[in-house]
Parts: sequence; structure tokens; C-alpha cells
Amino acid sequence: MVEFSNLYEIHKDLKQEFHDILDATLNDSCFVGGNGEFASKWRQYTGSDYCVTCNSGTDALYIALRAFDFEPHARVAVPAVSYAATAMAVVNAGLEPVFVDVDPVTGLMDWDEFHKREEGIVCVVPVHLFGQYCKVPESVRDKYVVIEDCAQAHGLRVDEQHVGVRADVACFSFYPGKNLGALGDAGAVITSSATLYEKMRAMARLGSSKTDRYMHETVGINSRMDILQDRFLVAKLKYLDQWTEERRRVARLYGQSRDDVVHVLYILVPPNERDELIRYAKSEGIQLNCHYPHALCDLPCFEKWRLPCPNATKFCASCVSLPLYPYMTQEDVDKVKKVLDHPELKTVDNKLFFAELKNSFETKRVFVVKNFDNERRGFHKNKITNEWIFVLSGTLTIEIDGNVNVVPTHGCIFVPKQSWIEYHGTPGTSIFVICDTHYNEEDVQRVR
Ligand SMILES: Cc1ncc(COP(=O)(O)O)c(C=O)c1O
Repeated sequence: MVEFSNLYEIHKDLKQEFHDILDATLNDSCFVGGNGEFASKWRQYTGSDYCVTCNSGTDALYIALRAFDFEPHARVAVPAVSYAATAMAVVNAGLEPVFVDVDPVTGLMDWDEFHKREEGIVCVVPVHLFGQYCKVPESVRDKYVVIEDCAQAHGLRVDEQHVGVRADVACFSFYPGKNLGALGDAGAVITSSATLYEKMRAMARLGSSKTDRYMHETVGINSRMDILQDRFLVAKLKYLDQWTEERRRVARLYGQSRDDVVHVLYILVPPNERDELIRYAKSEGIQLNCHYPHALCDLPCFEKWRLPCPNATKFCASCVSLPLYPYMTQEDVDKVKKVLDHPELKTVDNKLFFAELKNSFETKRVFVVKNFDNERRGFHKNKITNEWIFVLSGTLTIEIDGNVNVVPTHGCIFVPKQSWIEYHGTPGTSIFVICDTHYNEEDVQRVR
């Protein structure tokens, strides 16, 4: 059996430490409040100025949204692919979610789509989905309140800075399955504003004054992180970077070179093939998953705020998440890859899927198809743009700056700008390439 996730594997060596924490906490008999250290550790780890711990990632978002005293029903932009909590916190805070379509490949908020819906927006909640970096344009940071949902991005650093540090507020979940998870529910917000910090601290503690516990100056909620979770998180934080490296290693075994924190490793498959793939994998003892099977804009609970987001709808119909956890073995990865490569699953006309995807990309990016009718090799310096390569059929072997990756059918790989690549596909392999900026005609000819 290859499980989707295996928390036992990362906890087994920490059992004694957890037992010691339980003993110490029983001895102190201080279970809630008290002097938890995690806020200060998380503040240091992320390099932020202030941190408030709370009960969950959902509460973190709610607390952050309430801290700005937006007018009731103010409009908040939310990507149409995320966990429901991102939009639900907006609704629970008395605000209106405005769903924004996503990039069809990464599922991250598409800023061109945002600009089409930005009228009346007061706040944007970008999500670093699956551990990928959602870059927020400076113009958006200048104009709007930005609350980053970092629930899936613990340890994600860009230009040596942790994500969320540049946001007005960033929100984290420490749900057990997250890259850093408690042994129960937990969450936190970080900010560089002393004023917001104080408001969020009070909001999470029933509006209680800092100096007089029973003086409630504002109406808040009870969202404290209990001391056990606080201490478990302090114990686990020491290993976060090591576990992130492990997640990247496993992603490479799958043939995906991800330089983010790989919270979820996903592939996109033809929508009408997905259920069969998951069913077949289960029969072979492999647990696959979907993050998320429904776009937020299509969920019944958000009916009132429904807006078409076709890329998000397609993404959610196509995505399959693969088993991945620190210390996963090559043998287990190979078992998953074998299932993904099963010939009977390739019943769907990939060209149809391809045509649909092409439709959504072509306005923005050049889109190149290569068919490897004969075994083919190429070697060039990928000078111009970052590229995503998707394998529609067959197997592509691609060496990127000396690292060999074998990308199976439906796998994808990121090729950074300026890298040396050498590739060959088995006969019948077809791939498509998406570039992150426009190629000029000459470049297109070169790549083709
Ligand atoms: C992107 C995102 N936002 C918010 C949340 C909510 O966090 P929690 O489950 O801790 O409430 C999650 C967690 O599942 C998430 O993945």
C-alpha cells in the first residue's frame, strides 16, 4: 500500500520528545495561554516582526480580515482554486468574495484575470497553492490590502525572504497534514505592523486587553493555540527545512523538479480519465487524491458569489495529487509511476485535452508542441524564458544542468531560464511547452 501521506514516518523518531512534552505540560498544568514559545520561534523563522498564534488556518484568515475594519460587504479577491477555508473566512468576516480565475497550469491567481474584476476590491488574498510561489505584482501591493494565505507554504523563501513577510498579514495553518503540522488544529498570523499585531492578538483572545485580561475592549473570538500544540510545533520546527528538502527529493524521483516547498505534487490528466485513474490506482494499492475536485466558484456554499472561472473549473477537473511525504522510498515512487503509466488508462484522446488547454493559454503564452515520431535528442541553452514541459504521451528523458529527469506520461517538469538541457523522447512521445513570456517568431522557430 502506498499511502497518500505518512505522518507516522516523520513522527516516529520524535515520539520520546512528544511524550516529554506531554509530561512537562501535565506537570505545569498550564494548558491554554501561558507562555507558549512558538509565536516567537515562528516570527524568527519567517523573519517577520510580529506573530499571533491561533486555533487554525481558517481562524488566522478570519482574524486577519477582521483586523482591517473593512466596511460590511467589502469585496475581497480570492483565487478560484484553494481550500474552501480561504473564501469561507471572507464570508464569515461579513465580506464578499470575488473569485478570480487561475493560471491553468499552476492553479495560482492569474493577475490579468484579477485586473478584469478589480473594481471595488479592497483586499486580495493570494494563495501559495501546493507550496508554489504566487508572485504578487508590486502595483497590487501598492493599491490593496494583501493578506497572503501561506497555509501550504511553510519555509518557502523567495530571494531569501520567507513568503508572507511582505504582505500586510500572512496566514498559516498548522493542520497535521501541512508541511509543518501540529498534532491537532493550529494556526498563526504574521505581520510587520505593531497596530495590526495588537488588533489580531486581541481578536484571537476575545478582545481581551493586553494588560487586563478581563477588560474586553473589542468583540473577538476564542482562538488560542493550546500549549501542547505550541510545544509540539516548537519541537517539529527544527526539522522543517530537512523535511522540505525531502519533499523536493521525492518530487525529483517522480521526475518533477520543483524548487518550491512541494506541499502537494500534482499532475493534470484528461478530466474524463481521472476517476478511472484513481479507481485503478486504489485497486493497485496506491492512494491518489484531488486537490481540489471543485473550484471554489463552483461550490454550492458560494453560489451567491458564483462567477465563471473556466481555467479553475478545468484545473479542478484535471488535477490528481500524488503520494508524497518525507522519507518516501524510490520503490514506492516507482509503484506510483507504474500505475500512472498503465497503457489502459490512456484511452482518452490527448489531442482533445491539449486543444482545450491550448485555448486557455494561447492568448498569453506561446505554446509549442513536439512530437517525437522518432527517437530524438536535443541540446540547447534555454536562454529566453522559464518553461513548463508537459508529457502527453510516452516518456521524456531530460537532463537539466546535469540532473537527469525521467518524466512519465502526464508528468510535467519545470525548466528554469538559462539552464542547459538535453532531452530525448521514446518514439511516440509528445510534449507541450509553455513559456512564461512571449517568444518572438524567431525563437519559436528555434524551439520547434
Ligand atoms: C490554502 C489553505 N487555506 C486555509 C486553510 C485552513 O487551515 P485550517 O485547516 O488549519 O483551518 C488550509 C488548510 O487546509 C489551506 O490549505
